[in-house]
Order: sequence, then structure tokens, then C-alpha cells
Amino acid sequence: MTTILGIETSCDDTGVAIYNSDKGLMAHSLYSQIDLHTLYGGVVPELASRDHLEKIIPLIKDCCNKAQIQLAHIDAISYTCGPGLNGALLIGAGVANGLGYSLKKPIIPIHHLEGHLLSPFLTNANIQFPFLALLVSGGHSQIIIAKEIGKYEIIGDTLDDAAGEAFDKTAKMLGLPYPGGYHIAKLAQTGHPIYDLPRPMLNSKDLNMSFSGLKTAVLTLIEKLKNDQEELSNTQKSNLASSIEEAITDVLAFKIDKAIQLTGINNLIIAGGVSANVKLKNKILKLKATNPNLQVTYPPLQFCTDNGAMIAIAGFYRFKEAKYDYSFSVKPRFDLSSL
Ligand code: KG4
Ligand code: ZN
Repeated sequence: MTTILGIETSCDDTGVAIYNSDKGLMAHSLYSQIDLHTLYGGVVPELASRDHLEKIIPLIKDCCNKAQIQLAHIDAISYTCGPGLNGALLIGAGVANGLGYSLKKPIIPIHHLEGHLLSPFLTNANIQFPFLALLVSGGHSQIIIAKEIGKYEIIGDTLDDAAGEAFDKTAKMLGLPYPGGYHIAKLAQTGHPIYDLPRPMLNSKDLNMSFSGLKTAVLTLIEKLKNDQEELSNTQKSNLASSIEEAITDVLAFKIDKAIQLTGINNLIIAGGVSANVKLKNKILKLKATNPNLQVTYPPLQFCTDNGAMIAIAGFYRFKEAKYDYSFSVKPRFDLSSL
């Protein structure tokens, strides 16, 4: 039986979780800094680091209490070593290595995106390799062939903005707070996709994506709609939100469909913050009509966005690499295919 303590601090969520090989996820604790950063309209790295530092120890205690376990009974500590904000990563890495050293427990540095990739295993341990993954977060839009743990081939990437970034930037144009994807999806429920927005790169032969043109198109459309009125009406805003959501999810569903055709892999996972999007999930599930063997797995809603549970389970799958070496470094830029 193996028990892993996982720590995530790459951006604006402090996440801690305890995963056990027999019992599964025993507990997780999460603190979101959204309210702190909302005041500034985006994540302020220095404030993020300071807040992680304040919250991390109480969260570890809280998580141990919920799991009814003492730190001494943990077998290893996994933590996000990159990519992410340098100072934020250093807090998680420092705490993980300090705890490991004092408790004489080995530590496991984890690639943040590998955490997202393996998050569906939290509720389904039977996902078979190789699988295809649509990894869509605030900083990444990638289509990946996961061949085995640690062997990831990126077969599609964004050429500019990530899907989550496109949601965040267009949400800002509509006066919506961060995280934009969540607020756009909510507003879109009362709107209709009446505006014709571009779906870039649908005709390209590859699996790459581009969302910066969409951002420009939304900005131009807002200027045009405003015309001589001061503000967009609520109806215009919700119709815009619906049109933006429709355009982004259309591109993602189209590209993943193409990836299924090109690779012949029918085993698909969707992960990362944007995988919380219901419209996206429904569009991908509809692909079963033309791909009857398609299996789609995604993490429970609370584990789509950043959390400690995905780092704990990734630590479990990489347990054999756990080391008693506490000379750590973090990698703010870190390519998943370099693992
Ligand atoms: O994975 P994540 O929590 O952090 C990164 O690793 O980047 O993803 C955050 C992204 C943000 O861009 C946010 O707008 C997006 O996930 N997001 C959503 C939804 N909830 C969060 N996008 C679309 N629909 C949602 N419901
Ligand atoms: Zn993430």
C-alpha cells in the first residue's frame, strides 16, 4: 500500500491531496486565490507566491485531518516543479523538499501538465494506454498521444493563445472577471450564438490551433456593436458569450475528431481547466456518432482546474522514481514531451 501527499502551487491555486493505492483519493484541500487577483484583473505573480506561503501549511494540516492520517505515515511527497510561475512553484517545491527532508520521505517532482493528463485516473484506473488527450488549460491547448506514463507525444499545439487564454481575454473584453471560461460559459446559457466568429485553422492539414484571430474578431465586433451606444446591452453580451464559447469549442472538437481519424486511437481523455466546459464535453461526446468505438473520459468537475489531487495521483504513478535528494529546482518553462 502506498500513500502519496501531493502539492500544487504552480499558479493561483494552492492544492494539497492524499492519494492511497488501495483507498484512492483520501482527502484534498484547495484554496483559490481568485478573489485576491480579481482586484488586479489577472494573476499577480508576487502576490500569488506570498499567498501560497501563507496557505500551504494550514492546507497540509487540514488535508491530513480530513484523511485522518499523520504525515509520518506518508510514503512520498509529490509536487509541481513546472511549468508555472517561478515564485509560486518555489513555495510548493520548498515545502515538499523541506517536509521530505525532515520526515525522511522521498520526493517526486511532477510536470503540471502530466498531473492534468493523469487526473481522469482519479476516478477511472482502467484507462488504457495509448490514449489520446486533449489538454486545454489557461496556458496550453495540446493534442497528445500518451504512450505510457512519462511518454507523451505532442501532435497538435496552439500557435499563439491557448483555448483558456482565449476565453480569459475575450471575457475581459466583455467586462467579465477571471476565470473567463467559467464566466463566459455561465453567461452563454442565456444567450444565442448569433454572431459569426472565425474558426481558425479548420482547413489546415495539421492538428495545430490558433485563437488570437478570434480575440481580434471579438474586439472588432464589440467596437462595431457599440457604435454610438456607450455599453453593450446584456442581451448582446450573452449572445457574444454564447458565440465565443461556440467558436472555441467547435475548433477543439473539430481538431480532436481529426486527431482520432489520423491516429486511429479511440481512447480519449479531456483534461485541464477548459475541460470543465459542458458544451465542449457534449460536442466531443457527439463524435461517438461517427466514431462508435470512441471512449471519452474526463476528470470530475472539481479536478478539471488546478488541484492537488492530480499531483498526488501523478506522484503515485511515478512512485518508483521517488528520490531522497532534496536539492531541488523548478522549471517555469517545461516541455511535456521532454519528460
Ligand atoms: O488548468 P487550469 O486551472 O490552469 C492552468 O493550468 O492554466 O485552467 C484554467 C483555465 C482558465 O483559462 C479558465 O478560463 C478555464 O480554465 N476554464 C474554463 C472553464 N472553467 C475554467 N474554460 C471554459 N469553460 C469553463 N467552464
Ligand atoms: Zn493547470
